[in-house]
Amino acid sequence: MAQEHQEYIQQKVNPILENLVTQLLLERPEQLAPFMIKWLSQNSKTPAAAALTEGVNVLSELKVEMEKLQAEVQGLEQQVACKEEKEETDDEEEEIAPPASYFTTGPRASVSAEAYGQWNPERLFVPPVFAKTEEQKTRLANILKECFLFASIDSHDMAILIDAMQEKVVEQGTRLINQGDDGDCLYVIEEGQMNCFIQSSEGERKVKECVAGDLFGELALLYNCPRAASVEAAQRCVLWELDRESFNQIVKKAAISHREQLEEFLEKVPLLQSMETYERSSLCDALHAVSFNKGEVIVQQGEIGDTFYILEEGTAVVTKVYVAGTPAKEVLRLQHGAYFGELALLNNEPRAASVHAATDCQCYTLSRRTFNRLLGPLQEILQRNAREYH
Ligand code: CMP
Ligand code: CMP
Repeated sequence: MAQEHQEYIQQKVNPILENLVTQLLLERPEQLAPFMIKWLSQNSKTPAAAALTEGVNVLSELKVEMEKLQAEVQGLEQQVACKEEKEETDDEEEEIAPPASYFTTGPRASVSAEAYGQWNPERLFVPPVFAKTEEQKTRLANILKECFLFASIDSHDMAILIDAMQEKVVEQGTRLINQGDDGDCLYVIEEGQMNCFIQSSEGERKVKECVAGDLFGELALLYNCPRAASVEAAQRCVLWELDRESFNQIVKKAAISHREQLEEFLEKVPLLQSMETYERSSLCDALHAVSFNKGEVIVQQGEIGDTFYILEEGTAVVTKVYVAGTPAKEVLRLQHGAYFGELALLNNEPRAASVHAATDCQCYTLSRRTFNRLLGPLQEILQRNAREYH
């Protein structure tokens, strides 16, 4: 029987699969299942191929159904976990005073502006202070400057944040965060690489590699949820740890309101549809809002450009001079959710067209560096779309 199976596989199944794999390697489609189904139906002249096609069809339907159900279950689990966690934290915050170390007094203990916020007028927050050399402080300041989550913090609070961070060295293989655990701190990487894994029914899947300058462990603090992933050192790493209380007092409110403001909009930007939800949320931290008045030039053809734009509100018009000395022609009208300014960054060339605000416009911008870092995976889509320009 086993031999019969083997012969069947060798003679009938393998030739088809080999061809299919060759096609996959040649075309490398983004969406595997639809491509395979289409290829099989176009090549299903033999009974084996027809059977395979049917099997793949059924399988892909089941897979879609299963993914839907898994997402629903995950969403419900997270809601329950968040609700429970929040209730617990609310209770704790009523009853438990901050740890004694927070009340360190001394020349360098400073008080965060947030402590006097309208939510908590009476309790004075005194953040921890971990001694650092001036050289360490400068190094840390340079790292934090690059972290989008801390972008809106003023210099006073930034100094408090730097004092509150504690150096931590982890060796290769250390699992610092376990998915599902409670989280009470976040980390910024100074040196080394940490890998993030998510457990699913098919086992553990690596979802992100965090390198120097990246932070991780922020989700549990931002949303009072259990750890959403496990994080492990891919090599020896030098990290800076920030505790929940300091994070809550200095960073959380501003970061959450910025994310909330943007997440809903970014979900609807067609260019960003293929991004993972987590990556899209991280993008929120890096975007800056800029307004333009009706008639204002946003981008000038021929100039050097370092900024990428996503249009949130208003209409912008793209015009282009095709032959020097002749008038510019209108080539495109951009609306809510459209983007522009990518060509100068992708090709390292002067602006290929001008863009002006036809009505008052609200845009979100990314610098060249953040564009490369966060939209790197979308370069292929951007290049493909750019080939449609006339
Ligand atoms: P937190 O949930 O606190 O702990 C695990 C961390 O893994 C999480 O915060 C993020 O910083 C990080 N992470 C990286 N990629 C992902 C992802 N795709 N989904 C969830 N968390 C991720
Ligand atoms: P960039 O060259 O950086 O600045 C001008 C932008 O206009 C360009 O990127 C594109 O985003 C956008 N654009 C839209 N249509 C065209 C077009 N036909 N030719 C060139 N740029 C265009």
